[in-house]
Amino acid sequence: MGNIILTGDRPTGKLHLGHYVGSLRNRVAMQEAGDYDRFFVMIADTQALTDNAHNPEKIRQSLIEVALDYLSVGLDPKKVDIFVQSQVPQLFEMTAYYMNLVTVARAERNPTVKAEIAQKGFGASIPMGFLNYPISQAADITAFKANLVPVGEDQEPMLEQAREIVRSFNATYNCEVLVEPKALIPDNKVCSRLPGIDGQAKMSKSLGNGIYLSDDPKTLHDKVFDMYTDPNHLRVSDPGRVEGNAVFTYLDAFSNDEDFAEFWPEYSNLDELKAAYQKGGVGDVKVKKLLLNVLTKELTPIWERRAELEHDIPAIYDVLAQGSARAREAAAATLDEMRTAMGINYFTDQALIGEQSKHYAE
Ligand code: TRP
Repeated sequence: MGNIILTGDRPTGKLHLGHYVGSLRNRVAMQEAGDYDRFFVMIADTQALTDNAHNPEKIRQSLIEVALDYLSVGLDPKKVDIFVQSQVPQLFEMTAYYMNLVTVARAERNPTVKAEIAQKGFGASIPMGFLNYPISQAADITAFKANLVPVGEDQEPMLEQAREIVRSFNATYNCEVLVEPKALIPDNKVCSRLPGIDGQAKMSKSLGNGIYLSDDPKTLHDKVFDMYTDPNHLRVSDPGRVEGNAVFTYLDAFSNDEDFAEFWPEYSNLDELKAAYQKGGVGDVKVKKLLLNVLTKELTPIWERRAELEHDIPAIYDVLAQGSARAREAAAATLDEMRTAMGINYFTDQALIGEQSKHYAE
């Protein structure tokens, strides 16, 4: 007990299997373990707008997709507060104060932001809001005094930045209002960086290499059978490589020993299958079939829940509205403490008012 957990995703599209093994699956496990006081899950629409300012429609349509993905993987609004970033205005005020504690040079040094700037081709035209998003993300986290933040490894620089801001704020205003957050990154390396079905880069919409939680069984089947394996594994009898072979990478992320007992009892676990594949004699089609079975088993309950949820869209918005109201309340409490520490709580600061009354009466 005593933990406050916060995490979130940008609503720029549907969530995919990379999100699932990198974070969603772990969130549901944490929810079920129940070792926390509060658990917030945020749909980061404001952050999504930092590089989509001219395409708000994309964000508008993706919000419901992400909400459906959350609920269908099993996040339970009775146990976690699911909220929308833009609906918690306290976050913006906090961001404004934090911006004064971070230099431009420090913001430009963030390795994830640097990589994104290169990848998005901003050149010299980086939107201020984009450069600033790690600072705004520090507000997302600290507003709730979250100590645990389950995220993929690419978010570690954001957490580092948030911790610096916490230390700087507490030192500058001589207080202990803010709490240093820790990232919770999956220890399975594959899970924190699942490649696309092309085996090359991370799953991404623009590369068209993703498998989405909302893909139907036929799409899943086609994508699995399209997956990149070992281009030199031409005949079944040829030795095959498992490194860089997307099918094996996915099996690393998804399969367990029970899956072998159920779907391919000839091998008792993934290591045995890998050894056989490397030796030669195991065909790609059979390995893909195994992966399809494993994924279908994992996704079936998610598909079923989603089909139900899709029948009542207004109810989903209700969940988000209620979660956002609770988030506003929690953030407002922290903001009050911050304002007091900063000495800008003028109207309720009786000491200040009394002191000045005396001074001006003299
Ligand atoms: N930057 C995160 C991502 O791109 C999304 C995010 C925004 C987030 N605010 C957050 C994650 C706060 C954790 C905590 O995935």
